[in-house]
Amino acid sequence: MNVFVTGGAGYIGSHVVRLLIEAGHRVRVYDNLSEGHRAAVPSEVPGRKAQRAGRTRSGAGGLFEGDLMDEARLAEALDGGFDCVMHFAAHCYVGESMENPQKYYRNNVVGSLRLAAAMRKVGVGRIVFSSSAATYGVPREIPIPEDHPQQPINAYGQTKLDFEHALAYYAGAYGLGYATLRYFNAAGAAPDAAIGEDHDPETHLVPVVLQAALGQRQRVEIYGTGYPTPDGTCIRDYVHVCDLAQAHILAMEAIEPGKGLAYNLGNGSGYSVREVIETARRVTGREIPADVAPPRPGDPPELVASSEKITRELGWKPQYPDLDTIVETAWRWHQSHPDGYRD
Ligand SMILES: NC(=O)c1ccc[n+]([C@@H]2O[C@H](COP(=O)([O-])OP(=O)(O)OC[C@H]3O[C@@H](n4cnc5c(N)ncnc54)[C@H](O)[C@@H]3O)[C@@H](O)[C@H]2O)c1
Repeated sequence: MNVFVTGGAGYIGSHVVRLLIEAGHRVRVYDNLSEGHRAAVPSEVPGRKAQRAGRTRSGAGGLFEGDLMDEARLAEALDGGFDCVMHFAAHCYVGESMENPQKYYRNNVVGSLRLAAAMRKVGVGRIVFSSSAATYGVPREIPIPEDHPQQPINAYGQTKLDFEHALAYYAGAYGLGYATLRYFNAAGAAPDAAIGEDHDPETHLVPVVLQAALGQRQRVEIYGTGYPTPDGTCIRDYVHVCDLAQAHILAMEAIEPGKGLAYNLGNGSGYSVREVIETARRVTGREIPADVAPPRPGDPPELVASSEKITRELGWKPQYPDLDTIVETAWRWHQSHPDGYRD
């Protein structure tokens, strides 16, 4: 298939792009490089030089530098005979979304609606959307099934849910086919360490802990120890980024016109912040100093997925379900790229 990938230079998008190319799909990445990295886009995807030379203006290849808000640029980039859009581009920090919700509504809701409008205009009828466990809010049951009420407690989760709702209405009215994938905590890196996670600032626990193991930060801050969990710290479900990538291909192939799919993606096992730090100490053999800091607004105590639905319906089977392996692959990336893509 010809696949248009927004945010394909980012952490999860770049791993999906790599797998799409390996599986024989043609890919065009659309990214403003605000958070993403040119070097994260596989070399099989031609760069801007090729675009300027006109070699990627038709057909599906190419890294297009552009913003979701730029309708003209988006229309130009999408005009390439695409079968499917995978939509990763978004702002993704829970804490920041509580301090600056406008930034999140603008990019994650308005930007996504511009993308959906551009898709209608050029006749692309299929989308895989990166949604989030943050759409559930504080869960009433663990593990969380897909039909659990969605009541976000932070602006980030709300913006993801808003676009999920838009997709459902667009399916009914315009025949759009979609899959919304609710990731729990993405972690790990490509096992060959060619690509991995590189955010600035980094807020995700696994890379933060590994940066401390490398001596790049003095200590890890544990945000809150008074949660109703066995050790008082937040519990999350970590899923390997390559397993997420596999799920995208399965979901893309399962989409039908006018219908929507929704799947959780996690491993069904929760680990507390303290357990993740312990795992990283074991895997790296390094000391990782940690301090207690105040809890952050918008953090639910526990998020653990039931991914039984995607396993049953699409045959998704994670290859790297255990936390030690997830941390090991991330550690390989961080050791070989201590300065991320600047190396
Ligand atoms: N990382 C996780 O654990 C996690 C969990 C749940 C959901 N998600 C969702 O998955 C998606 C990818 O997350 P990630 O961790 O890879 O994030 P990321 O920041 O690494 O990647 C996002 C990419 O989108 C690009 N981008 C952002 N706004 C853009 C815009 N307006 N126009 C064009 N490009 C734009 C950025 O440059 C970046 O390359 C996001 O939608 C995020 O909300 C991530």
